[in-house]
Amino acid sequence: MILKKKIFLYFFSGTGNTLWVSKIFAEEMRKYGTETKILPLPCPPPGIIDDDTILAVAFPVYAQTAPPFVCDWLRSLPETKKETPVIMLSTFAGSSGLVKGPFHHLLSKKGYTPLAVREFIMPPNYFHKYGEDRNSQIRERAKLAIADFAREVSGGKTKWTSRPAFLNILQLVAQKIFRHGGSGWFGKGFRADKAKCTKCGLCMKLCPVDNINLAGDGYPGWGGRCQQCLRCITYCPTSAISNFRMRLVAYPGYKCAEIKAADLIREAQPQTFTDF
Ligand SMILES: Cc1cc2nc3c(=O)[nH]c(=O)nc-3n(C[C@H](O)[C@H](O)[C@H](O)COP(=O)(O)O)c2cc1C
Ligand code: SF4
Ligand code: SF4
Repeated sequence: MILKKKIFLYFFSGTGNTLWVSKIFAEEMRKYGTETKILPLPCPPPGIIDDDTILAVAFPVYAQTAPPFVCDWLRSLPETKKETPVIMLSTFAGSSGLVKGPFHHLLSKKGYTPLAVREFIMPPNYFHKYGEDRNSQIRERAKLAIADFAREVSGGKTKWTSRPAFLNILQLVAQKIFRHGGSGWFGKGFRADKAKCTKCGLCMKLCPVDNINLAGDGYPGWGGRCQQCLRCITYCPTSAISNFRMRLVAYPGYKCAEIKAADLIREAQPQTFTDF
């Protein structure tokens, strides 16, 4: 059994998959007597972490690694001498190369102990989407994999092997291309149809990087910091949002059937881990 009593799990989820995985993981860990507190990213990195606590982070894979602001968050973690254990969970549609190794390096350099990492195949939300039958089959398989992972974590039977250091450079290059090329370019392609938009502001509240502002006339406008998480376009209640650049790279319309927009809004969730 693991000796740690608590897990603080920081998650980001664009269309619900990663939050769903985080919740199932928390339920599974509870069965082994470990409480898991789920906290939304972005938020400030944790300060002092108790000795009986495991830090966990969960995110969707974007361009073979974590979303840029999640990478920034990991890089901003304070250095520690406590060897705090870290668990990493990611969700992806089928191919992810630059997640495990580079983050092992990063965390070890900061004094953390990379304890366990697992990537869960979940329904795709980007280039293509499946029907709900296939999506729920994928979720059922993921549920079994999450239960396995939780059992391994609680039994202390996990490994997180390192990878060659050159992958760190590849990860940085992938991030740079994604952040400055595709992402900004893509973000500026958003439009709200004024005939459909009710000026409710939900898209602005959902955006993890404050890339959406309501203009003087109350309609949303998009800046250049988009991370392509697809939240705004997916959850707009009147389907008022389109992106004329999207048909080249993305397929909007998927969302995890068991997660609602309200679950993803930052203000609705605790931001610190003092209220555990
Ligand atoms: C911008 C973007 C990039 C993605 N890149 C990858 C990728 O490189 N490999 C992959 O397997 N899936 C990729 N996906 C698919 C997501 O990782 C996958 O569907 C994930 O479970 C979505 O999680 P979420 O619902 O929590 O946002 C990408 C999705 C988006 C939106
Ligand atoms: S969520 Fe949709 S309806 Fe609401 S402000 Fe944004 S674009 Fe308009
Ligand atoms: S603008 Fe939309 S797609 Fe881009 S980061 Fe914000 S919510 Fe996500």
